[in-house]
Amino acid sequence: MKTINQLPNLKGQRVIVRVDFNVPLKDGAIRDDNRIVQALPTIQYLIKQEAKIILMSHLGKVDFKDPVQTADDMKKNNLSPVAGRLAELLKQPVTFSDATRGDKLKFWINTLENGQVLLMQNTRYEKGETKNDPELSKEWASYADAFIMGAFGSAHRAHASTVGIPTVLKEQGKPVAVGYLVEKEVKNMTKCVDVKPEGHPYVALLGGLKVSDKIKVIESLMKKCDKILIGGAMAFTFYKALGHNVGTSPFEADQLDFAKKCYEDAKGKIVLPLDVVVADAYDGWKEIRTVLISQIPDGFMGMDIGPKTEKLFAAELLKAHTVFWNGPMGVFEKKEFTNGTIAICQAVKTLGRKAFTVCGGGDSAAAVKQFGYMDAFSHVSTGGGASLEMIENDGHLPGIDVIGD
Ligand code: 3PG
Repeated sequence: MKTINQLPNLKGQRVIVRVDFNVPLKDGAIRDDNRIVQALPTIQYLIKQEAKIILMSHLGKVDFKDPVQTADDMKKNNLSPVAGRLAELLKQPVTFSDATRGDKLKFWINTLENGQVLLMQNTRYEKGETKNDPELSKEWASYADAFIMGAFGSAHRAHASTVGIPTVLKEQGKPVAVGYLVEKEVKNMTKCVDVKPEGHPYVALLGGLKVSDKIKVIESLMKKCDKILIGGAMAFTFYKALGHNVGTSPFEADQLDFAKKCYEDAKGKIVLPLDVVVADAYDGWKEIRTVLISQIPDGFMGMDIGPKTEKLFAAELLKAHTVFWNGPMGVFEKKEFTNGTIAICQAVKTLGRKAFTVCGGGDSAAAVKQFGYMDAFSHVSTGGGASLEMIENDGHLPGIDVIGD
């Protein structure tokens, strides 16, 4: 994997940097700029090198099936607010091109002077982006003398802007490399993929809603880990599969067979919650109770792990030399159900640097940030899906593999 420092001097060169600026937006306001902040070292390095910097990113998804939905998606996923925030962080102007291909985009790129930065509108405004369309890839590649993969969060997507452009540029003998963020992410995530003997016990903690999203990662972690702790709503699919009443808790009927077999095959490696905080409704509840998992009353749903589980999971985490965590323990967006997720953060903080601890992006990273535990982890990834797929595919991601020889 070639890194940005290994590239020849880029002075005056047009460099496309694929960044992941897929940030949460509400009414055009950025709610968390972490991904923009994390991209800064690469952009600042290129500014210092006096390159002409062309940033590309997706934001959200665009339907392209129904015209009304498509127009709505485009309006909602307009990347322009990011240009403003980036300019503030870089303390220099950022040109925004609302064109995503053609003469207008070419015009804006041609206006760039050495050390100047341009951000292109959402790559997913182009239908061919997610299809890795060869024509689109060729056109985008024609605007660049070099390519930097700076988007760890999008490296699991084989799209035109992640895989198409570097493929074309490599064929033309032009330089491609990964940026500082991707280099750091890969180095840290590799320690959760290829765990050395001294990295054991290796404890994974999975939460969130769906077992179906995590089947492959569970299968992979079963081979790598000493313990897999399962919290969040996912645990109810396992409990239902084991014959328990889960009340109105969400579970996936089509995953019951997988969950049962997985639990049996794990022979004690999978640890499920002992107790759970339940409510009689997801919103507007009248009653909240803490009950043993075997005693979830009819009409109640699980909203968080209970205090016995917090202790059990913390005890397992405190034995670990490596921890990988993906998925919150409960509905942490509601203050009544934050305790389980905070207890995990606290256990990781107590563990300190006695272990290598990774929070694998997505909702769990948002929770870590919200509760002020960013420094407690050895690494908080900017990629949710990417970090899971890196584990599933034994360290391989299309957007990173393409940079290699
Ligand atoms: C993410 O937020 O996980 C990445 O930006 C990838 O987004 P995607 O799932 O829409 O491809």
